[in-house]
Amino acid sequence: MKTTLRLLSMCVLLLSANVHAQYNPQRYPVIPKPQTLLPFSGNFDLSSNAAIVVEHKSLKKECHLFLRQAQELFNLRFNFGKISGNEPCIFISYDSTGLPPEGYELYINRDGVNLYGTKAGIFYGLQTILQLIQPGERAGTFMLPSCSIIDYPRFTWRGMHLDVARHFFTKEEVKSYLRYMAMYKMNTFHWHLTDDQGWRIEIKKYPRLTSVGAWRKQTLIGHFSEEPDRYDGIPYGGFYTQNEIREVIRYADSLHITIVPEIEMPGHASAMLAAYPHLGNFDVKYEVQGTWGVFNEVLSPSDTTFEFLENVLTEVAALFPGKYIHIGGDECPKTEWENSMFCQNQIRKFALDGEKGLQSWFITRIVKFLDSKGKKAIGWDEILEGGLAKGAAVMSWRGEEGGIAAAKAGHNVVMTPGSHCYFDYYQSQNPGEPLAIGGYLPVEKVYSYNPVPQVLNADERRFILGVQANLWTEYIPDFRQVQYMIFPRMCALSEVAWTRSEIKSYQPFVGRLTAHMNTFDRMKINYSKSIFEIIPRFEKTEEGFLLHLSTYSPLGEIKYNLNGDSVQHTDAVYTGPILLKGGESVSAVVLNGMQRLSPGYAQKFKSHQAFGKSVTLKKAPSPNYNTGGAATLTDGIIGRRPWTGAQWLGWWGDTCIATIDLGKESTIGFVEISVLHDPGSWIYFPKDFQIEVSTDGQNFVKAEQSKRQPEYASLQKRGIPLVRTQARFVRVTIIPENEIPEGQPGAGHPAWLFVSEIEVL
Ligand code: ACM
Repeated sequence: MKTTLRLLSMCVLLLSANVHAQYNPQRYPVIPKPQTLLPFSGNFDLSSNAAIVVEHKSLKKECHLFLRQAQELFNLRFNFGKISGNEPCIFISYDSTGLPPEGYELYINRDGVNLYGTKAGIFYGLQTILQLIQPGERAGTFMLPSCSIIDYPRFTWRGMHLDVARHFFTKEEVKSYLRYMAMYKMNTFHWHLTDDQGWRIEIKKYPRLTSVGAWRKQTLIGHFSEEPDRYDGIPYGGFYTQNEIREVIRYADSLHITIVPEIEMPGHASAMLAAYPHLGNFDVKYEVQGTWGVFNEVLSPSDTTFEFLENVLTEVAALFPGKYIHIGGDECPKTEWENSMFCQNQIRKFALDGEKGLQSWFITRIVKFLDSKGKKAIGWDEILEGGLAKGAAVMSWRGEEGGIAAAKAGHNVVMTPGSHCYFDYYQSQNPGEPLAIGGYLPVEKVYSYNPVPQVLNADERRFILGVQANLWTEYIPDFRQVQYMIFPRMCALSEVAWTRSEIKSYQPFVGRLTAHMNTFDRMKINYSKSIFEIIPRFEKTEEGFLLHLSTYSPLGEIKYNLNGDSVQHTDAVYTGPILLKGGESVSAVVLNGMQRLSPGYAQKFKSHQAFGKSVTLKKAPSPNYNTGGAATLTDGIIGRRPWTGAQWLGWWGDTCIATIDLGKESTIGFVEISVLHDPGSWIYFPKDFQIEVSTDGQNFVKAEQSKRQPEYASLQKRGIPLVRTQARFVRVTIIPENEIPEGQPGAGHPAWLFVSEIEVL
């Protein structure tokens, strides 16, 4: 009966309304974009006496967030459930017929609004309605634009992670985070509760986990890669009681969000070890760490440790109603296990394949224990190494390879590769950005992500549960900064997680996002305006480089100056590309009258003989670190630290061999490369570099080195002074460090080689 009614109301809508030719992103600024939206002309007037009528009172819970936000954002109050019969109504009814689990249908016309769906679907449909509310014709009135929407998510796991160990966020801040997620139909909150720098969840059986493990003496100042280390000397910490956790779980439940708690093991365990040192491999003094990275001190794979972890997980499993518990498993150095007699005996006793086998055995025991508690384990992709117990799920973070291998082996997978999902990376190249861990992940790149790798067949694809962004908080000391790092990148991710990829498109997304910025402003959310920043693009020509500037900002114009100070409204309007020959500095900004709409763009271009000259690379950089292609090496831009990807080319385990054509025979006296060293991101200075020269581009000879000592402007430079020589072609070979040393993040893996510029002087 209900379905018939629903079809009928859709037909009436289709017949009675004029279908708009255009889907106008400003009129329907819904994020994530609905699977189908038919736009109509005409509006539903949301006058102050509009009513919400729910078919059954059990649906009231689904309306709470909507009612609260309508009041906060628009000062709109609805009559809830009490109607006289004449007022305009939003009718809500439960109906899952023919709809996927979280789906809904929404029909808006002049006469009314109908929302049908599953419970979650109704909750999401109300968020869609909230996003459609816009000013009416008369001041102070509001309306909803007519349309019909059928909507449901692409993935069941639409995740956001928050690290509360590196920096602590209060229960109220976590609830705000959940509310932000719900606004964008995200449904899984990964709560990273334990790490080297703090244990944040009360465990009744082991009170020292929080009385000792939740507090560190001090915290590192500045970036991990700076030397020497400096500390603030200020004790820091905090934790959630089980009652507070229950309150957060209840709130999440009201927002249709499932919480996945993470208890890290066997590495990232310094806080646990500081509280209970007998869980360690050696009789030493442990401390809650005040700096970042990966630490050699890890759990001992002993019966005592398992009994302890099982008691902890029993309390965690009893608290959290969701199916999954995250058990970490990443970045566990094996040095201690190699040096411990007990561990070596365990390896022999259980005929394990070395320390990797011991880690797999460790994880398998925990996976089986969680199974016995009716829970499923999920862990970072390292848990695949040495074999993974059936039923455990994998979070693919070191690229997609782990996720692909896991899906092929029949494990459920959540995709969260650093390249597209690490919201602790920079989102802008603007030098004024607040300090971040490194990397470059602009909104557009998040938006472009497709979590289902092409290499998987149809059967294997079913194991991809969805996608998640991770927010590690080493460099995120307060909640304002949390907001800045997730807004608006979470909006882009929500569309990756919810919307079919065939109907996604970045430019209209930015159009819709612009409308959301008003909401962020009203909610006093500190968000990044990097989507409006000036995007430089280089075009090589005979004479040098043409610098093209563009912006996604729908308002204002780009103004710029050459070799001047910050841009004024009296500066030139950008109308076409700027010719660069090396040695210039360019400043630009998007101005609307006197109002600055974008972060400022400022770039110095170094002058040298290879500036703007063509480069050929023997081996292409990794696709993730190849934004500007080979031309990056001669564009006169020396990459900054902390690094953002775009100014750097990155190779993983490969040698960089670059041949520069200077265009004509020239005298060469010095070649200098700009390279990066950032062990926290697995990036190392090269082991060696060599220079060869040629006059014909075919026959190269080693360039003769002079006895002069090179002087470097910075630590990031490596140079070779040459006996002056005539050549047209310069071939530079940069050899990476073989392997990341023990005790460093990524130990045993190839080191990354990052190169920004090759200067020929
Ligand atoms: C991770 O980023 N270490 C999972």
